[in-house]
Amino acid sequence: MKTILPYFCLILFALVTISACQTSQPQQENKEQTKPATTTTSSTPTNPRTDSLIMVFNEGQALFNQNCLQCHTTNKERMIGPGLLGVLERREVGWVTAFIKNSQKLIASGDSIAVALYNEYNKTQMQSFALNQEQMQSLLFYLANLGRKQSEYITLDELPKIKKK
Ligand code: HEC
Repeated sequence: MKTILPYFCLILFALVTISACQTSQPQQENKEQTKPATTTTSSTPTNPRTDSLIMVFNEGQALFNQNCLQCHTTNKERMIGPGLLGVLERREVGWVTAFIKNSQKLIASGDSIAVALYNEYNKTQMQSFALNQEQMQSLLFYLANLGRKQSEYITLDELPKIKKK
């Protein structure tokens, strides 16, 4: 222990000196960097609303790719199930939610749209998905915004605007 101690002190001293130097230098750099940094942000303004919606979209896309992509396209082409582009323009959000949660239950309840789809797709069963509320919201947001520009994303509250009667 006695032999290690001097080295230890030396290393400690060296570390303190290095860190002291490191903290003083960036401060100066920061001052210089402040101006260019603000000019970049003002020339390319980022919209906080768009930024957070992009995050929701990406989360929804990840869920879709994991769970739905094997049967559904994100355009209008049918695969094992219907293409889902514009699905929230042709269906109510509550209906889509119920169908994703448990399509068999909806079909069994005699819902005319669900029954017709089931027959049209040769009685292929779509399994149930136990998603939590946040995941469901992201997934629906993703479906609602397929093919839309990021700056034109609409929230689920705005869905009635695009709903086709
Ligand atoms: C095993 C294949 C399969 C998977 C996986 C699947 N689906 Fe389906 N989906 C279908 C089929 C087939 C239909 C047509 C109705 C039926 O046969 O029940 C359908 C219908 C739908 C409909 C109704 C479409 C319309 O035009 O009204 C929606 C919405 C839907 N699926 C969403 C999803 C979502 C979201 C996921 C992922 C969480 C998913 N599906 C995963 C096969 C699948």
